[in-house]
Amino acid sequence: MSLRIALAADHGGFRLKEEIISLLKEHGIPFHDFGTFSEESVDYPDFALLVAEAVRTGEYQRGILCCGTGIGMAIAANKVPGIRAALCHDTFSARASREHNDANVLTLGQRVIGPGLAREIVRVWLASEFTGGRHARRVDKIAGIEEKYGNRGGR
Ligand code: RB5
Repeated sequence: MSLRIALAADHGGFRLKEEIISLLKEHGIPFHDFGTFSEESVDYPDFALLVAEAVRTGEYQRGILCCGTGIGMAIAANKVPGIRAALCHDTFSARASREHNDANVLTLGQRVIGPGLAREIVRVWLASEFTGGRHARRVDKIAGIEEKYGNRGGR
């Protein structure tokens, strides 16, 4: 299945988003840029929501969100049922977030890591697959937590 990527950033992650766009173009990976389109100050939850909803509907298989730290984007995106957003600033975590947690959104902090490492993290994250098995039971339990609190998430 070819992946379609939903991408967004706030002002603190704008330049990193542009770097990731270059990477996706180099590899011919289809994506949609949900903004922001400059370094003018915006609110990161607005952009986390755009990407999280685009992934939740299935229109995009994966999402990538950039802000200053990656933290706000992860917190906000994880409020949307069915979203498993992982903040990864190393390639080991990026791979594990896919293999163990079936993370469908990657968040990155422009003020934390440089563009070279970010590119490598994205490359590894996009190439890694969920391994299922015992991990599937655990991911299903995450959906169970969403249901307990009235959300209708699931994988
Ligand atoms: C914006 O200044 C900054 O708070 C934001 O980019 C992000 O780091 C939030 O988690």
